[in-house]
Amino acid sequence: MKAISRRVASLGRLDVANMANGAPHYSLFPFKQLVFEVPSVTEAQDPVAEWRAGTCPTQSFHSYKDEDCALSLRNAFQYTHRAGLPQCQNALKDLTELFLHPRITLSRMTNAPLSYGIKWVGIKMDGGGIIPEEMEKILQNWDETKGRRPHVLYIVPVGQNPTGSTLSLERRQKIYRIAQKWDLLILEDDPYYFLQFDLPPVETIPKVDGTYSQRFSKHLIPTMLSLDVDGRVLRVDSFSKILAPGMRLGWITSSKLFHEKLVTYTDSGTQHPHGFGQAFITEMLGEKGWQLDGLCRWLQSLRLDYERRRDFLLEMFRREVGPTGYASVDVPQGGMFVWMEVHFERHPHYRSGLRDATSSAVAPRTNIETLLLALFEKCMENDVVVMPSSIFSIPEDPMWIGNDNQHVPIRDRTKFFRATFAGTEENIEKGMVRFGRTLKDFFEQPMTANLRTCKTANK
Ligand SMILES: Cc1ncc(COP(=O)(O)O)c(C=O)c1O
Repeated sequence: MKAISRRVASLGRLDVANMANGAPHYSLFPFKQLVFEVPSVTEAQDPVAEWRAGTCPTQSFHSYKDEDCALSLRNAFQYTHRAGLPQCQNALKDLTELFLHPRITLSRMTNAPLSYGIKWVGIKMDGGGIIPEEMEKILQNWDETKGRRPHVLYIVPVGQNPTGSTLSLERRQKIYRIAQKWDLLILEDDPYYFLQFDLPPVETIPKVDGTYSQRFSKHLIPTMLSLDVDGRVLRVDSFSKILAPGMRLGWITSSKLFHEKLVTYTDSGTQHPHGFGQAFITEMLGEKGWQLDGLCRWLQSLRLDYERRRDFLLEMFRREVGPTGYASVDVPQGGMFVWMEVHFERHPHYRSGLRDATSSAVAPRTNIETLLLALFEKCMENDVVVMPSSIFSIPEDPMWIGNDNQHVPIRDRTKFFRATFAGTEENIEKGMVRFGRTLKDFFEQPMTANLRTCKTANK
């Protein structure tokens, strides 16, 4: 994903409909400016002594979201792709060169879980998220002589990234029971929890049934944490999607045992969370701030905003893409993404039956993956960026599949693109118009350079 983002940035094109990433639009960050009141180091004779004595003159720095400043809050509180924003890096460059004389560049961070030796096993999903029976099948078929049976379940229960699916209460209960049976820990990563759609309105007139925040909370689907009677759930929340990603602040709720481990781990890692972010959150929830009721009013309004964006994307999809007949879409009940399925079986160069009796159970039978990547390249040529599902897929191991003859390899199932509705209506409309046209060309005029490559690759 980062490579695609860098590629888009390096193209330097001005008019790209970028629907690749779920970056909340800056107009949704609930602040306009930050004011830092600091010692006036030029006016003071001895700034530190005067500051401590409370006699130091002060000056203010302002960071704005909509006005000119050194680093706009639009960028500072957004997701970024590198280790620090260019403005901040430039600000540090002179200092670094003056004092530190660097000779080498340090390598980038690698994908965090892999570097800890964690091995992933994919679980089949449908429109409703992880299928509990598929999860159980994997655990049952596991051959312990080939490695330890999986013992942690990672889930994104609301508006799953990338598929947009939300787990129903019934599935949550089933998954929890399987976790109990096989003694799994559950890592509930739920940054889209507050962006749930199609809910009844929250009664705004105070009634006997509690405060606004209590009523608001009752509308949301119960979390896995709320079903947990054993202390096996670690729940991860984030302010990224509901306030601003650049805050880099989230929180984990867990049993005491995991809490203690996490504190030790933090002590020897990042040491503590981001200070400015913590200051902002504390004020916001404090006596003089929004408090919990105020935050819930913001969240209710925010989730309706995303619901409207989702509906707008679906409307554009129905207008621009649906009529081609080459793609369809699920309606997400939460989050920031739609998962568009492309019907590659209708493509003139679609091939199936590509594997013989000696092939492994995970070897692809079709050329769907190649067609997907060829279509992605065509989208890029036409200035629309959507994420190809192959980059989210986990390589399969025949061991998980056991003797399931009906198994369809994941490489034959990667026929989706992820698109976000986090952007502006203009971006969404442009993106869907271009995606529809690109699909039509791709299916109806397939004699392009990309497809010749794709045919050769599948000979
Ligand atoms: C499922 C999931 N978890 C976590 C994150 C990242 O959240 P944060 O900004 O808090 O690191 C994302 C962001 O896209 C996400 O989709």
